[in-house]
Amino acid sequence: MTEVGAPETDLPQARPADAVPRLEVRDVSVSFTVKGKRRTILEGVSCEIARDEIVGIVGRSGTGKTTLLNLLGGILRPSGGGILLDGEPFDKPVDKVITVFQDYNQALLPWRTVRRNVSLGIERRLTRAEVTDRVDRALEMTHLTDNANDLPWQLSGGMQQRVQIARALVMEPEVLLLDEPFGALDAMTRATLQDDLLRLQRETGFTVVFITHDVDEAVYLADRVLVLGGSPANVVREVVSGLPSERDQLDTRESPLFTTARRTLADELWGEGR
Ligand SMILES: Nc1ncnc2c1ncn2[C@@H]1O[C@H](COP(=O)(O)OP(=O)(O)OP(=O)(O)O)[C@@H](O)[C@H]1O
Ligand SMILES: [Mg+2]
Repeated sequence: MTEVGAPETDLPQARPADAVPRLEVRDVSVSFTVKGKRRTILEGVSCEIARDEIVGIVGRSGTGKTTLLNLLGGILRPSGGGILLDGEPFDKPVDKVITVFQDYNQALLPWRTVRRNVSLGIERRLTRAEVTDRVDRALEMTHLTDNANDLPWQLSGGMQQRVQIARALVMEPEVLLLDEPFGALDAMTRATLQDDLLRLQRETGFTVVFITHDVDEAVYLADRVLVLGGSPANVVREVVSGLPSERDQLDTRESPLFTTARRTLADELWGEGR
Protein backbone atom coordinates (compact mmCIF):
# COMPACT_ATOMS: atom_id res chain seq x y z
CA MET A 1 0.00 0.00 0.00
CA THR A 2 1.39 3.36 -0.90
CA GLU A 3 0.87 6.35 1.26
CA VAL A 4 -1.01 9.12 -0.43
CA GLY A 5 0.22 12.63 0.31
CA ALA A 6 3.73 13.61 1.34
CA PRO A 7 4.74 12.37 4.78
CA GLU A 8 5.00 15.32 7.15
CA THR A 9 6.55 13.47 10.04
CA ASP A 10 9.18 10.85 10.55
CA LEU A 11 6.60 8.21 11.44
CA PRO A 12 7.78 4.63 11.02
CA GLN A 13 7.11 3.06 7.65
CA ALA A 14 4.71 0.18 7.11
CA ARG A 15 6.44 -3.14 7.50
CA PRO A 16 6.86 -5.43 4.49
CA ALA A 17 3.65 -7.18 3.50
CA ASP A 18 3.07 -10.90 4.11
CA ALA A 19 3.41 -13.18 1.09
CA VAL A 20 -0.35 -13.72 1.21
CA PRO A 21 -2.18 -11.04 3.18
CA ARG A 22 -5.12 -12.07 5.34
CA LEU A 23 -7.32 -9.59 3.50
CA GLU A 24 -6.74 -7.81 0.26
CA VAL A 25 -8.93 -5.10 -1.20
CA ARG A 26 -8.22 -4.84 -4.91
CA ASP A 27 -9.30 -1.75 -6.79
CA VAL A 28 -12.74 -1.84 -5.21
CA SER A 29 -15.60 0.48 -6.02
CA VAL A 30 -19.10 0.63 -4.53
CA SER A 31 -22.04 2.49 -6.03
CA PHE A 32 -25.61 2.68 -4.81
CA THR A 33 -28.65 3.66 -6.81
CA VAL A 34 -31.17 5.63 -4.78
CA LYS A 35 -34.36 6.86 -6.48
CA GLY A 36 -32.81 6.31 -9.89
CA LYS A 37 -29.66 8.29 -9.04
CA ARG A 38 -26.38 6.44 -8.95
CA ARG A 39 -23.83 7.49 -6.33
CA THR A 40 -20.32 6.15 -6.10
CA ILE A 41 -19.23 5.86 -2.48
CA LEU A 42 -15.86 4.11 -2.85
CA GLU A 43 -13.69 4.13 -5.94
CA GLY A 44 -10.39 2.42 -6.69
CA VAL A 45 -9.78 1.39 -3.06
CA SER A 46 -6.85 -0.97 -2.59
CA CYS A 47 -5.25 -2.11 0.65
CA GLU A 48 -3.81 -5.16 2.33
CA ILE A 49 -4.20 -6.38 5.88
CA ALA A 50 -1.72 -8.85 7.35
CA ARG A 51 -2.56 -11.81 9.57
CA ASP A 52 -1.65 -10.52 12.99
CA GLU A 53 -2.44 -6.88 12.33
CA ILE A 54 -4.81 -4.54 14.09
CA VAL A 55 -5.95 -1.96 11.58
CA GLY A 56 -8.06 1.10 12.36
CA ILE A 57 -10.25 2.96 9.90
CA VAL A 58 -11.08 6.62 10.48
CA GLY A 59 -12.77 9.24 8.33
CA ARG A 60 -15.54 11.78 8.44
CA SER A 61 -19.11 10.66 8.93
CA GLY A 62 -20.63 9.34 5.71
CA THR A 63 -17.32 8.75 3.91
CA GLY A 64 -17.85 5.01 3.52
CA LYS A 65 -16.16 3.37 6.52
CA THR A 66 -19.03 0.99 7.29
CA THR A 67 -19.35 0.29 3.58
CA LEU A 68 -15.68 -0.76 3.48
CA LEU A 69 -16.09 -2.93 6.60
CA ASN A 70 -19.15 -4.60 5.07
CA LEU A 71 -17.07 -5.45 2.02
CA LEU A 72 -14.40 -7.02 4.24
CA GLY A 73 -17.11 -9.01 6.03
CA GLY A 74 -18.57 -10.36 2.80
CA ILE A 75 -21.85 -8.63 3.69
CA LEU A 76 -21.71 -6.31 0.69
CA ARG A 77 -20.51 -7.13 -2.81
CA PRO A 78 -18.33 -4.56 -4.55
CA SER A 79 -19.61 -2.96 -7.74
CA GLY A 80 -16.09 -3.28 -9.16
CA GLY A 81 -12.82 -4.92 -8.10
CA GLY A 82 -12.68 -7.66 -5.49
CA ILE A 83 -11.85 -8.78 -1.96
CA LEU A 84 -9.47 -11.65 -1.24
CA LEU A 85 -9.38 -13.61 2.01
CA ASP A 86 -6.16 -15.59 2.45
CA GLY A 87 -5.59 -15.15 -1.27
CA GLU A 88 -9.04 -16.40 -2.34
CA PRO A 89 -11.80 -14.17 -3.70
CA PHE A 90 -14.85 -14.04 -1.43
CA ASP A 91 -18.08 -12.07 -1.48
CA LYS A 92 -20.33 -13.65 1.10
CA PRO A 93 -20.19 -14.03 4.88
CA VAL A 94 -17.93 -16.84 6.12
CA ASP A 95 -17.39 -18.23 9.62
CA LYS A 96 -13.81 -17.11 9.88
CA VAL A 97 -14.69 -13.44 9.38
CA ILE A 98 -17.06 -12.09 12.03
CA THR A 99 -18.47 -8.58 12.27
CA VAL A 100 -19.45 -6.93 15.53
CA PHE A 101 -21.98 -4.28 14.68
CA GLN A 102 -22.25 -0.94 16.36
CA ASP A 103 -25.69 -1.19 17.88
CA TYR A 104 -25.06 -3.79 20.54
CA ASN A 105 -28.21 -3.32 22.56
CA GLN A 106 -30.35 -4.04 19.54
CA ALA A 107 -28.21 -6.97 18.45
CA LEU A 108 -28.77 -9.03 21.62
CA LEU A 109 -31.93 -11.09 21.97
CA PRO A 110 -33.65 -9.79 25.14
CA TRP A 111 -35.36 -13.10 25.99
CA ARG A 112 -32.15 -15.13 25.86
CA THR A 113 -29.65 -15.29 28.69
CA VAL A 114 -26.06 -14.18 28.12
CA ARG A 115 -25.06 -17.83 27.63
CA ARG A 116 -27.80 -18.40 25.06
CA ASN A 117 -27.04 -15.16 23.23
CA VAL A 118 -23.41 -16.23 22.96
CA SER A 119 -24.26 -19.73 21.75
CA LEU A 120 -26.58 -18.46 19.01
CA GLY A 121 -24.18 -18.82 16.08
CA ILE A 122 -23.04 -22.37 16.89
CA GLU A 123 -25.87 -24.17 18.67
CA ARG A 124 -27.33 -25.86 15.63
CA ARG A 125 -24.01 -26.93 14.23
CA LEU A 126 -22.07 -28.44 17.10
CA THR A 127 -22.79 -31.04 19.75
CA ARG A 128 -24.13 -29.83 23.06
CA ALA A 129 -20.81 -30.55 24.78
CA GLU A 130 -18.85 -28.60 22.14
CA VAL A 131 -21.25 -25.66 22.42
CA THR A 132 -20.92 -25.62 26.22
CA ASP A 133 -17.16 -25.78 25.98
CA ARG A 134 -16.83 -22.99 23.44
CA VAL A 135 -19.34 -20.74 25.21
CA ASP A 136 -17.56 -21.27 28.55
CA ARG A 137 -14.27 -20.23 26.97
CA ALA A 138 -15.77 -17.15 25.26
CA LEU A 139 -17.43 -16.08 28.53
CA GLU A 140 -14.18 -16.56 30.39
CA MET A 141 -12.19 -14.54 27.85
CA THR A 142 -14.67 -11.66 28.14
CA HIS A 143 -14.98 -11.92 31.96
CA LEU A 144 -18.66 -12.77 31.78
CA THR A 145 -18.68 -16.17 33.47
CA ASP A 146 -20.57 -14.83 36.48
CA ASN A 147 -23.21 -13.27 34.24
CA ALA A 148 -23.90 -16.35 32.11
CA ASN A 149 -27.50 -16.64 33.29
CA ASP A 150 -28.37 -12.94 33.27
CA LEU A 151 -30.62 -11.40 30.64
CA PRO A 152 -29.16 -8.61 28.46
CA TRP A 153 -31.21 -5.85 30.10
CA GLN A 154 -29.71 -6.78 33.47
CA LEU A 155 -26.24 -5.84 32.20
CA SER A 156 -24.41 -2.53 31.86
CA GLY A 157 -23.63 -1.16 28.39
CA GLY A 158 -20.01 -2.32 28.61
CA MET A 159 -21.10 -5.82 29.61
CA GLN A 160 -23.59 -5.95 26.75
CA GLN A 161 -20.82 -5.03 24.38
CA ARG A 162 -18.66 -7.79 25.87
CA VAL A 163 -21.52 -10.24 25.17
CA GLN A 164 -21.36 -9.13 21.53
CA ILE A 165 -17.63 -9.77 21.50
CA ALA A 166 -18.12 -13.16 23.20
CA ARG A 167 -20.68 -14.00 20.56
CA ALA A 168 -18.07 -13.30 17.90
CA LEU A 169 -15.31 -15.22 19.76
CA VAL A 170 -17.44 -18.35 20.02
CA MET A 171 -17.23 -18.61 16.24
CA GLU A 172 -13.43 -18.84 16.61
CA PRO A 173 -12.90 -16.15 13.98
CA GLU A 174 -9.67 -15.51 12.16
CA VAL A 175 -10.76 -11.96 11.39
CA LEU A 176 -12.76 -9.74 13.73
CA LEU A 177 -14.38 -6.66 12.21
CA LEU A 178 -15.68 -4.04 14.63
CA ASP A 179 -17.80 -1.03 13.67
CA GLU A 180 -17.27 1.68 16.30
CA PRO A 181 -17.30 -0.97 19.00
CA PHE A 182 -16.91 1.25 22.06
CA GLY A 183 -18.40 4.51 20.81
CA ALA A 184 -21.39 4.62 23.13
CA LEU A 185 -19.53 3.77 26.32
CA ASP A 186 -18.13 5.93 29.11
CA ALA A 187 -14.37 6.58 29.11
CA MET A 188 -13.44 4.06 31.81
CA THR A 189 -15.46 1.20 30.38
CA ARG A 190 -14.07 2.03 27.00
CA ALA A 191 -10.47 1.89 28.22
CA THR A 192 -11.11 -1.50 29.84
CA LEU A 193 -12.65 -2.91 26.67
CA GLN A 194 -9.80 -1.53 24.57
CA ASP A 195 -7.32 -3.42 26.74
CA ASP A 196 -9.53 -6.53 26.65
CA LEU A 197 -9.49 -6.42 22.86
CA LEU A 198 -5.69 -6.08 22.75
CA ARG A 199 -5.33 -8.99 25.18
CA LEU A 200 -7.72 -11.18 23.18
CA GLN A 201 -5.86 -10.39 19.98
CA ARG A 202 -2.58 -11.44 21.60
CA GLU A 203 -4.17 -14.63 22.96
CA THR A 204 -5.89 -15.74 19.77
CA GLY A 205 -3.81 -14.04 17.05
CA PHE A 206 -6.83 -13.01 15.01
CA THR A 207 -6.76 -10.11 12.58
CA VAL A 208 -8.67 -7.04 13.77
CA VAL A 209 -10.13 -4.26 11.64
CA PHE A 210 -12.08 -1.62 13.54
CA ILE A 211 -13.76 1.69 12.77
CA THR A 212 -13.64 4.56 15.22
CA HIS A 213 -14.42 8.25 15.34
CA ASP A 214 -11.86 8.67 18.09
CA VAL A 215 -8.34 9.51 16.92
CA ASP A 216 -6.80 8.53 20.27
CA GLU A 217 -8.56 5.17 20.22
CA ALA A 218 -7.38 4.58 16.65
CA VAL A 219 -3.73 5.10 17.60
CA TYR A 220 -3.99 3.25 20.93
CA LEU A 221 -5.47 0.07 19.43
CA ALA A 222 -4.03 -0.09 15.93
CA ASP A 223 -0.72 -1.04 14.39
CA ARG A 224 -1.80 0.95 11.37
CA VAL A 225 -4.60 3.45 10.75
CA LEU A 226 -6.19 4.02 7.36
CA VAL A 227 -7.81 7.39 6.74
CA LEU A 228 -10.73 7.32 4.33
CA GLY A 229 -11.48 10.57 2.59
CA GLY A 230 -12.70 12.22 -0.57
CA SER A 231 -15.83 11.68 -2.58
CA PRO A 232 -15.92 9.02 -3.84
CA ALA A 233 -13.76 7.91 -0.93
CA ASN A 234 -10.38 6.25 -0.99
CA VAL A 235 -7.58 5.62 1.47
CA VAL A 236 -5.98 9.05 1.57
CA ARG A 237 -3.45 8.34 4.28
CA GLU A 238 -1.94 5.48 6.17
CA VAL A 239 -0.39 6.05 9.58
CA VAL A 240 1.86 3.50 11.30
CA SER A 241 2.50 4.48 14.90
CA GLY A 242 5.37 2.04 15.50
CA LEU A 243 4.14 1.54 19.09
CA PRO A 244 5.21 -1.73 20.74
CA SER A 245 2.41 -4.29 20.95
CA GLU A 246 2.34 -4.08 24.76
CA ARG A 247 0.22 -0.99 25.50
CA ASP A 248 -0.72 0.87 28.62
CA GLN A 249 -3.50 3.42 28.99
CA LEU A 250 -1.19 5.96 30.66
CA ASP A 251 2.35 5.31 29.42
CA THR A 252 1.43 4.59 25.78
CA ARG A 253 -0.72 7.69 25.50
CA GLU A 254 2.16 9.86 26.76
CA SER A 255 4.79 8.37 24.48
CA PRO A 256 6.19 10.47 21.60
CA LEU A 257 5.25 7.77 19.07
CA PHE A 258 1.64 8.03 20.23
CA THR A 259 1.45 11.82 20.19
CA THR A 260 3.15 12.06 16.79
CA ALA A 261 0.77 9.54 15.22
CA ARG A 262 -2.20 11.19 16.91
CA ARG A 263 -1.20 14.61 15.59
CA THR A 264 -0.69 13.30 12.05
CA LEU A 265 -4.12 11.69 12.05
CA ALA A 266 -5.83 14.74 13.54
CA ASP A 267 -4.23 17.02 10.93
CA GLU A 268 -5.36 14.69 8.17
CA LEU A 269 -8.92 14.51 9.47
CA TRP A 270 -9.54 18.05 10.58
CA GLY A 271 -7.14 19.95 8.33
CA GLU A 272 -4.04 21.79 9.40
CA GLY A 273 -5.47 25.28 9.17
CA ARG A 274 -7.90 24.93 12.07
N1 LIG B 1 -27.46 0.54 1.18
C1 LIG B 1 -27.22 1.82 0.86
N2 LIG B 1 -27.95 2.43 -0.10
C2 LIG B 1 -27.69 3.69 -0.46
N3 LIG B 1 -26.74 4.46 0.07
C3 LIG B 1 -25.99 3.91 1.03
C4 LIG B 1 -26.17 2.56 1.48
N4 LIG B 1 -25.26 2.29 2.44
C5 LIG B 1 -24.55 3.42 2.59
N5 LIG B 1 -24.96 4.38 1.75
C6 LIG B 1 -24.40 5.72 1.63
O1 LIG B 1 -23.00 5.58 1.52
C7 LIG B 1 -22.33 6.63 2.21
C8 LIG B 1 -21.33 6.02 3.17
O2 LIG B 1 -22.03 5.35 4.20
P1 LIG B 1 -21.28 4.61 5.39
O3 LIG B 1 -22.32 4.06 6.28
O4 LIG B 1 -20.29 3.67 4.82
O5 LIG B 1 -20.50 5.84 6.06
P2 LIG B 1 -19.61 5.89 7.37
O6 LIG B 1 -18.29 6.43 6.99
O7 LIG B 1 -19.65 4.58 8.05
O8 LIG B 1 -20.37 7.00 8.23
P3 LIG B 1 -20.58 7.12 9.84
O9 LIG B 1 -19.26 7.57 10.38
O10 LIG B 1 -21.62 8.17 9.97
O11 LIG B 1 -21.00 5.78 10.35
C9 LIG B 1 -23.41 7.46 2.89
O12 LIG B 1 -23.64 8.59 2.09
C10 LIG B 1 -24.62 6.56 2.87
O13 LIG B 1 -25.79 7.31 2.76
MG1 LIG C 1 -20.51 3.88 9.85
